[in-house]
Amino acid sequence: MDYQKFLSNRAKELHGSLGKQTSVPIPGLINMGSGTPDFKPPGFVFDAMRQALDEGKIQYTAWTGIPELRRAIADKLKTENGVEVDPDSELVVTSGAQEALMAVLMALLNEGDEVLTPSPNYDEYTRDAKILHGTLVPVPTTPESNFTINVADLEAAITPRTRAIIVVTPNNPTGTVLPRETLVAIGELAVKHDLLIISDEIYEYYVFDENRHVSMASLPGLKERTITINSFSKSFAMTGMRLGYIAAPAPIIEALLPFHHAMMICANVVTQYGGVAVLSQPRDWFKDILAEYDRRRKAWMQMLDSINLPYSKPQGAYYIFIDIRPTGLTSAQFVAKAREEARLVFQPGTIGGGAGEGFIRGALTTGSPKFEEGLERFADFIRTLRGNA
Ligand SMILES: Cc1ncc(COP(=O)(O)O)c(C=O)c1O
Repeated sequence: MDYQKFLSNRAKELHGSLGKQTSVPIPGLINMGSGTPDFKPPGFVFDAMRQALDEGKIQYTAWTGIPELRRAIADKLKTENGVEVDPDSELVVTSGAQEALMAVLMALLNEGDEVLTPSPNYDEYTRDAKILHGTLVPVPTTPESNFTINVADLEAAITPRTRAIIVVTPNNPTGTVLPRETLVAIGELAVKHDLLIISDEIYEYYVFDENRHVSMASLPGLKERTITINSFSKSFAMTGMRLGYIAAPAPIIEALLPFHHAMMICANVVTQYGGVAVLSQPRDWFKDILAEYDRRRKAWMQMLDSINLPYSKPQGAYYIFIDIRPTGLTSAQFVAKAREEARLVFQPGTIGGGAGEGFIRGALTTGSPKFEEGLERFADFIRTLRGNA
């Protein structure tokens, strides 16, 4: 049967854009570029979810999420991020940041509209804009500036069709943390050109050295034009629980609710109780996780220094953006060869747009002893490539 004639133009346009997913682990393969944290949240989170199930809490919740969770998120935003929101009108609980960003773009974009983002960027934004027949305009950043956006470049990309600037800090895939001055300058740009800001803060807890996470909505005058997206996926290692949220001015929340409802009705109820638990308890347990990720970050850098391969120093998130241009391979060629010959898995830098060509995304998410073995294999692989050159 010819199924093509049944497919929408959108489906045809997106065909193959995700690549192929292998769900069965392949023996001997070490994933050194994974976006999934390798730790578990504390037991009390599981207890809360078990209790919700035991109490039969399995029906739809309010579209915007259970009031306890919205209150807990509002408290967290106030104390940790310096952002005050009304839990009843300025928050919606979503099925992860992924749903959040789609719902936001659905509410903002007409056909032909543009949103800007520093690139390399999280690839889903590109696909979402495409689905909506809008355009994500990637504004390239360079390794020389550690992939920090030059605000003048951002301004040069603004057109009459620009609706919003997407800011992701810490960033996936580059690990760049934007300093406060840059965020302030982006905010001034948004005010000057009357644009909204979409601030994806899902890696906020992963910041290293002297870098600090700053929420766009906490900067003077920016709350009214900022849509904050966050999630429990990365901060609390709950990627499969599918829990996130959007904090935004009430008219924006109201406008995106029909899209959230169309896709999800509400976020998973059991997971929402897990979310209340994790936000209501002290978060000192995360210190050890961050210390371990920092140890792995340093081990990556030490190994890369020892084989003289350049990289962009990771400031945050849990990625390391490795410059493989000295090997003479493209990102895609390198990833394929590393998989075949060294049994190592990476993401090509190009997942985040053309500005990532010549780079691969490594990660800090592999536990010992596989992590150390992965590093060794990587160093051997580069030596072999050089030996063959
Ligand atoms: C920058 C960024 N935003 C959003 C997401 C989606 O996260 P979630 O699991 O909360 O849907 C990811 C996932 O990797 C991401 O890296």
